[in-house]
Amino acid sequence: MAQIHMDDRMLIISETDERGIITFANEDFVTMSQYDYNELIGKPHNVLRHPIMPKAAFADLWKHLKSDQIWNGFVCNRTKNNDYYWVYATVAPITTPTGERHYISIRKKPSEEEVKHYTALYQGMRQ
Ligand SMILES: Cc1cc2nc3c(=O)[nH]c(=O)nc-3n(C[C@H](O)[C@H](O)[C@H](O)COP(=O)(O)O)c2cc1C
Repeated sequence: MAQIHMDDRMLIISETDERGIITFANEDFVTMSQYDYNELIGKPHNVLRHPIMPKAAFADLWKHLKSDQIWNGFVCNRTKNNDYYWVYATVAPITTPTGERHYISIRKKPSEEEVKHYTALYQGMRQ
């Protein structure tokens, strides 16, 4: 597994339905995840889950979303080719034009210090 890095100018965006099924992904998402757009749509978002990620991080994410709160956090994602990349994510509930509850996530490149910090933290939390 090799680490790959976002460019400073990148913004990785995805949208899911209430169950976390991907309904939209932007070009930067496709680039970083190494999946084709059509492979992503309809897949559960945990397709990107990396083994370093603690269960508690996603439990906290869903707890925030279910209570209408925005969640911010550091996430390591696994790509289709088994590479990985770190992001700083902001995830929020939205209402679609047809009145459905969806969620959006917008991700920026984290600093090297942040990646170092969260790698150690998450490794220590490993269940
Ligand atoms: C909008 C949105 C974006 C998400 N983005 C990611 C992501 O980039 N990587 C990831 O592993 N999980 C992401 N998740 C969380 C997954 O839905 C899932 O909870 C997580 O991967 C843990 O998988 P598990 O519930 O099967 O243990 C996202 C969820 C939402 C609602």
